[in-house]
Amino acid sequence: MKNSARPIGIFDSGLGGLTVFKALRALLPAENLVYFGDTARVPYGTKSPAAVIAFSREIAGFLLKKKIKLLVVACNTASSLALEEIRKVSRVPVLGVIAPGVEAALKAAPSGGVVLVIGTSATVNSRAYSRALAAAGARVKVLEKACPLFVPLVEEGWCSKPVAAMIAREYLAPFRKKKVDALILGCTHYPLLKNIIARVMGPGTRIVDSARVTAADARAELERRGLLNGGGKGRSEFIVSDAPERFSGLALKLLGIKTGKVAVKRF
Ligand code: DGL
Repeated sequence: MKNSARPIGIFDSGLGGLTVFKALRALLPAENLVYFGDTARVPYGTKSPAAVIAFSREIAGFLLKKKIKLLVVACNTASSLALEEIRKVSRVPVLGVIAPGVEAALKAAPSGGVVLVIGTSATVNSRAYSRALAAAGARVKVLEKACPLFVPLVEEGWCSKPVAAMIAREYLAPFRKKKVDALILGCTHYPLLKNIIARVMGPGTRIVDSARVTAADARAELERRGLLNGGGKGRSEFIVSDAPERFSGLALKLLGIKTGKVAVKRF
């Protein structure tokens, strides 16, 4: 196989990374993509760092055997806790979603402004965003809030039910008083709740999703290495660790993605 024809590997704990998959597919229509959703072990956000690192290394190893040319960790929890560990075992470049989220937030929030990061408990506890914003020289006040019920809501397909709005209000309404300039969707499941979150926060808050910047970073990385796939329509392959029909049904219902047959890989 030509080097440039090798696929891009993408993984998440479940459905959330499909928001990144969609951005990659839109920007890079000729690329072959292989997506892994760890549906047997979702959610990652309530697990220990050691567990998230072990799962991530297993999945990276599996995708590397599929001869990928680039690995996109389409999960904020794994990007926060396991990126360095994955890089240690990977012979291909590895991109996470934290740096792209920070890059997008810096464009959305003015200097001296307030940035609210929402994510899983594991991501918030890791303070990965606060550290990355500080390292990028951001002169903003950073607030962080874990919203652990958002992932099960999405995995249940309940993105536009009244209960989703109720839970979003409970988590976020107190932040309206703090005049938040930008809110980072620090979990790849959360873009599926974007409208509800935007409504709770009000028009003064810009909602930042890292998917598009992640896709742009992936293109830049491939371009730099001369690995962009030219012409034609790229293939998409989907693999999960459990319940493939459920994954396929929700991908279509929530994101309009037609997965075709979803394979199963158990660890
Ligand atoms: N979508 C993932 C993230 O971006 C993981 C959510 C979870 O499994 O808890 O953090």
